[in-house]
Amino acid sequence: MIIHELHGEKVLDSRGNWTVKAYINGTAGTAPSGASTGSHEARVMPADKSVSIINSKLQRLVGESFNQAEIDILLESIDGTERFEKIGGNTAIAVSFAHFNAIHKSNRIEKEIFPYPLGNIFGGGVHGGSSTFQEFLSIPVKAKTIYEALETNAQLHQRLREELKKKTKIVGINDEGALTADIDDLKALDIITGIAEDLGCRIGLDIAASEFFKDGKYIYRSSKKALAPKDQLDFIIEIAEKYKLIYIEDPFEENDFENTAELTKKIGDKCLISGDDLFVTNEKRLLKGIKTGTANSIIIKPNQAGTISMAHDTISLAKKHDYIPVISHRSAETCDSTISRLAVLWGAPIIKAGVIDMRISKLNELIHLWNIAEDPRMAKLGF
Ligand code: PGA
Ligand code: ZN
Repeated sequence: MIIHELHGEKVLDSRGNWTVKAYINGTAGTAPSGASTGSHEARVMPADKSVSIINSKLQRLVGESFNQAEIDILLESIDGTERFEKIGGNTAIAVSFAHFNAIHKSNRIEKEIFPYPLGNIFGGGVHGGSSTFQEFLSIPVKAKTIYEALETNAQLHQRLREELKKKTKIVGINDEGALTADIDDLKALDIITGIAEDLGCRIGLDIAASEFFKDGKYIYRSSKKALAPKDQLDFIIEIAEKYKLIYIEDPFEENDFENTAELTKKIGDKCLISGDDLFVTNEKRLLKGIKTGTANSIIIKPNQAGTISMAHDTISLAKKHDYIPVISHRSAETCDSTISRLAVLWGAPIIKAGVIDMRISKLNELIHLWNIAEDPRMAKLGF
């Protein structure tokens, strides 16, 4: 596709901060951003700087013709560093998304298998809320259609809100639209699993453990518990069994491959052990995981890598080695729904994209893709 026009704009994200939006031939792509970011992610430039890079340095793309791989490789080479230190991973992903969306604008995605939504129902950590664990997640494993799947997660969110209102005075909503309340992590798990069973959902957690790892210990907020890594391992195994968890993300701090591998060995046959801050959508870090038997699932956040093609290389490697890929949004988002199209295009069996608020833009895009597919079906999860 020939690029006739490329420009950048500064726009607001869901936290009320500025982010960068790129337009290619009138079609947009917008960079999301994280709060519990992994330290090995692509660098984020201030939005103003990012916009000015698009409107000056990157104007050399105008007049040229690229496919997705070509433009992504060019962005990497214009930057010249491993983690987009010069132009910013946010700049690169906005341009990469805009290019992808311009190509796929009116095209039906020729894929029929749809991802299960992994919904963030209740939360805390750095996204706001008093729980130590960052995300209490739901997978509607019994759903046969995307409609059923999305409705089930929404119902769980609604029923939990009612239940929490009966138990505590203040019930809120955090950065990702997850419910928050002043209750302990285990109490929250008790309540959520009760409703989830009724609705046919299974439960998972994003522990985001790096965020509460201080001086060699995992510090739990409400119980004032401080666990050494080995005790954290025992605790995670205990709750995985008690609550029949099928998904656990970042159970240890971002560089602890060893304990993550140990956990995978112990419960990886019945639970997905997923790396987010651990792998940061980076091929080299995933390769280390594969070699060491660390985790069996990976979060794919295109902006952690910097381009769609880099994220694609990582997901291809994951699939080759039977790691279950989970395409994911960030805690600060816009209505950009590129990741929904990528999830279907790449055949990811799971997508983490929220349940309510502006996050529905991604969910509703899945519904649209479902409606224009010839014979749409949900992915096989194997549990
Ligand atoms: P972030 O977190 O987008 O705030 O980095 C989301 C996650 O940890 O999955
Ligand atoms: Zn995470």
